[in-house]
Amino acid sequence: MARRRILYEGKAKVLYAGPEPGTLVQHFKDDATAFNAEKRDTVEGKGVLNNRISEYVFSHLNEIGVPTHFIKRLNMREQLVHEVEIIPVEVVVRNIAAGSITKRLGVEEGTRLPRSIIEFFYKSDELGDPMISEEHITAFGWANPQEIDDMMSLAIRINDFLGGMFAAIGIRLVDFKLEFGRQVENDMVRTILADEISPDTCRLWDAQTNNKLDKDRFRRDMGGLVEAYREVAQRLGILQENEPIKTRGPVLVK
Ligand code: TMP
Repeated sequence: MARRRILYEGKAKVLYAGPEPGTLVQHFKDDATAFNAEKRDTVEGKGVLNNRISEYVFSHLNEIGVPTHFIKRLNMREQLVHEVEIIPVEVVVRNIAAGSITKRLGVEEGTRLPRSIIEFFYKSDELGDPMISEEHITAFGWANPQEIDDMMSLAIRINDFLGGMFAAIGIRLVDFKLEFGRQVENDMVRTILADEISPDTCRLWDAQTNNKLDKDRFRRDMGGLVEAYREVAQRLGILQENEPIKTRGPVLVK
């Protein structure tokens, strides 16, 4: 079998050329990084869980008419996606203060924000993803005003949908990060959701105990990361108790 062509390798995922033009295979690794990869480790089973959780979220978003890159899951670690040109802007939506906003603005962790807040960060590992405004995005040409509008209105719809989805299983959606891409179809370009939505890219707190069910367990050396991600998957009904998720070794793409 021929070796697959790697098109891009990020910290937690690899993108391979897909079976048809305009498609890619998105592979979820077990690698975990934080603080711009200053902290790194391998957490066995994380990639499998994120693949399943992200599949679940993206399928539902597709169903409600949010355009996404997701086509279908291929196997335990991989999904088939539409190829897009990634817009180099990370869109963060916050409902409750946690993480960088607590330090930047001195808001106490856990404070419910007066309304949902959208923030933009420039996607640059060298610069450590600095926070930016719409002015920077348009001045430097990272996205045009229409694309910014698309990203913001999609982010609000996604927040409403995810907030309800997690509330129904006793989880608070504290914040999350989105990435969008440009999909070219004939001579049309449209803005669609790309990347992943998983406990790596969201903050999720148990509604009763405020127990963290996300990557903060890794960032803060709390342990129990896979157990927390598994809890999220089980509550979503996409994983049975005791279902094995640890897959080492070769994986085949259908
Ligand atoms: P922050 O509080 O560190 O700015 O993070 C906000 C949200 O974005 C949080 O849910 C974690 C997520 N996030 C990523 O997915 N990737 C990143 O590189 C960073 C910094 C945050």
